[in-house]
Amino acid sequence: MVSRAVVQGVGHYLPSRVVPNSHFETFLDTSDEWIRTRSGIERRHFAAETETTSELAAHAARAALADAGMQVDEIDAVIVATSTADLTFPSAATMVQAELGMTNGFAFDVQAVCAGFVFAMANANALIVSGQANSVLVIGAETFSRIMDWTDRATCVLFGDGAGALVLKAEEGDGAPSDRGILSTDLNSDGRYRDLLYVDGGVSTQTTGHLRMQGNQVFRHAVEKLASTANKALDKAGLTAADLDWIVPHQANIRIIQGTARKMGLPMDKVVVTVQDHGNTSAASIPMALSVGVQRGQINKGDLLVAEAIGGGLAWGSVVLRW
Ligand code: UT7
Repeated sequence: MVSRAVVQGVGHYLPSRVVPNSHFETFLDTSDEWIRTRSGIERRHFAAETETTSELAAHAARAALADAGMQVDEIDAVIVATSTADLTFPSAATMVQAELGMTNGFAFDVQAVCAGFVFAMANANALIVSGQANSVLVIGAETFSRIMDWTDRATCVLFGDGAGALVLKAEEGDGAPSDRGILSTDLNSDGRYRDLLYVDGGVSTQTTGHLRMQGNQVFRHAVEKLASTANKALDKAGLTAADLDWIVPHQANIRIIQGTARKMGLPMDKVVVTVQDHGNTSAASIPMALSVGVQRGQINKGDLLVAEAIGGGLAWGSVVLRW
């Protein structure tokens, strides 16, 4: 018998303001056609001026707890994956903890940019299988609209805001690939590529900064590294791509999503795609795609999934789990 981190519930939250591609045509030399064909994005949500990342996260957390049929006092730990926390400190996770009225356990943030949710899932899994926590709320939440340079058409049309959450709980498994729960993880980073995608400010430089990206370079790394990490994680679990019911990719660009599926030898009808409606929401994109995938009836109990992501660092990785 082994301990497995098994999904009990999932939920997401999108701020109410929907911004169509046509919005950017009013102040930039761009077009709905360019954004759709180069990225697959049709619209994204932006948080209201007073709405913070931890508020989006708390909404998603409540939805996931309700879906799990669990109370907050049954949760031992909260992990928030974000690069856009409300304050420099404390963590967004402690703010969510307070917002939910959770007075026990512990909370912390994970910062691995667009790969953040995969890194947070791997951390939650480690806490559960090592017996340090029984139930973990794992959240990806971002307000990337706050770090956009609205004069840079190559980046500001791509990103959006939102939050998604999962409740993971320890359950006994046989140690076989047929178990429910997280079956394997694969994490990577290579700081030599830090100049490809970064924010040109931070506490130590005394500015907030804006997102800078060499999009076509990141694109090249993404297509090569995403299929590779997904296949590595599948191999660790004793599985292959042919066993998968769903790929749940980071939603940055439909062409990256299609390229990764092609490299893994899987058709697009095995891929959960939300990029058209959410844009790139960094660490929030995978948990929101999981939640939407369940709502649409795509993801069902017992399905085998791989979630994969890459972003600033570069940092990239994947998680294989049976829903
Ligand atoms: O989530 C973290 C990871 N991030 C990603 O995975 C993003 C990866 N990169 C991408 O998704 C794509 O590289 C982009 C969507 C950012 C860009 O697509 P691309 O096919 O790589 O285009 P490009 O950057 O090579 O630019 C092609 C042309 C350029 O014009 P020239 O130099 O060929 O005349 C750009 O100036 O498109 C131009 N361009 C635009 N044109 C209209 C760039 N942005 C825009 C725009 N509207 N918004």
